[in-house]
Amino acid sequence: MTETVLLIGGGGREHAIARALADSDCALYAAAGNRNPGIASLADGFETLETTNPEAVTTYANKVEATLAIVGPEAPLEAGVADALGDAGVYAFGPQQAEARIETDKGFQRRFMDRHDIAGCPDFEEFTDSEAACTYIDEYDGDLVVKPAGLTGGKGVRVIGDQVTPAEAKAYIRDSDHDRLVLEERLVGEEFTVQALVANGDIRVTPAVQDHKRAYEGDEGPNTGGMGSYSDASLELPFMDRDEYLEAVDILQETVDALEGYKGVLYGQFMLTADGPKVVEFNARFGDPEAMNTLPVMETDLLDVLVAARENESLPQLQFQPQATVCKYAVPDGYPTDPEAGAKVQLSPKSASDALLYYASVEEREDGIYTTTSRSFAVVGVADSITDAEAIATEALESAGTEGLRVRWDIGTPDLVQSRLGHMDELRGE
Ligand code: AMP
Ligand code: GLY
Repeated sequence: MTETVLLIGGGGREHAIARALADSDCALYAAAGNRNPGIASLADGFETLETTNPEAVTTYANKVEATLAIVGPEAPLEAGVADALGDAGVYAFGPQQAEARIETDKGFQRRFMDRHDIAGCPDFEEFTDSEAACTYIDEYDGDLVVKPAGLTGGKGVRVIGDQVTPAEAKAYIRDSDHDRLVLEERLVGEEFTVQALVANGDIRVTPAVQDHKRAYEGDEGPNTGGMGSYSDASLELPFMDRDEYLEAVDILQETVDALEGYKGVLYGQFMLTADGPKVVEFNARFGDPEAMNTLPVMETDLLDVLVAARENESLPQLQFQPQATVCKYAVPDGYPTDPEAGAKVQLSPKSASDALLYYASVEEREDGIYTTTSRSFAVVGVADSITDAEAIATEALESAGTEGLRVRWDIGTPDLVQSRLGHMDELRGE
């Protein structure tokens, strides 16, 4: 074995990365703040450490003699872990702190798009003064979205006309202590994600995925980190056509060109509007849950991509199985507002039968695996159609039982997929 890969992060996304690397010709070590039993079972070593502490990460990387690193979550990127690994002589597939601002600073992200004239940027303004932001809401002709400029784990955004009234948005601004806010035009349409592997100026894209951020069925309730997601057997999703997917890819390409020297994953969150795809946000990493849709159907060896990136070579073209995927997260009862930890997880990799099981935040005790207060685990069905993939994911959850857990059973069902199509048809006036 010539390569030793250090994986940073311990969630469902990182479990999917670990599984993608497990069959590759490399030794795999992992470092995360929480011990993920799924990753630990695939890795040659697992260290629990503070992943936002660059020194702790580089010390472990040196100890295991890592030749490559891949950073899963955004927080270590924001803390400069990729920079520190680079300084320590370990190539990190993940952007440096400055480039990660495309995710970690939403004000920077919008100004960057504006300055480089990148397509799909909504109308926006940035504020440091809450009263000026409130006046802007009063005077703006249309609905706005309020976004704290910094990272909030996907939970800081308030959409006027959807989640909140203008008065509630203003109260939120006045009550919160965010020092910078972005207010931007509300985009109306269907959301989708396209993740690209990027290095040496190359971008290699993956199939579109639709995540479900709202906590409850029918897209009700507060925003979460993501309750589940689906992808189709083709690059696009049922509510879009190939040209719309390619428009999103063009936006990613323009962004990579403007970023210069970016390496890692560039994740585009798009809103397909009646006028085509617009950018909701960029992330500097794989999506969670979206990585669990994408990596299981990727036939190209992820290690080959990482090695080519480090060697300054052109990235391999990506091949995908023509299969649909449906991912459903099981979260603790009461999540995200009043999560109750401590339920025993009845599903195991063996009992998941045809579905894939990815652990997220769980606690391993002597007599089994228990939930914490964050998302617990995800199951993924892979099949010829979204409907069949959904049935596989549901069957695995139902057979094990979900006591103490909550699942959005509606994700990937024919009704929900059809309602997305209907929504786009309505917006397009068809
Ligand atoms: P973010 O933290 O930027 O991912 O935003 C969280 C969620 O807020 C997104 O997934 C969207 O559902 C919603 N959102 C963010 N920006 C906009 C926008 N400009 N228009 C409509 N919805 C938005
Ligand atoms: N699925 C949303 C995210 O990873 O940010």
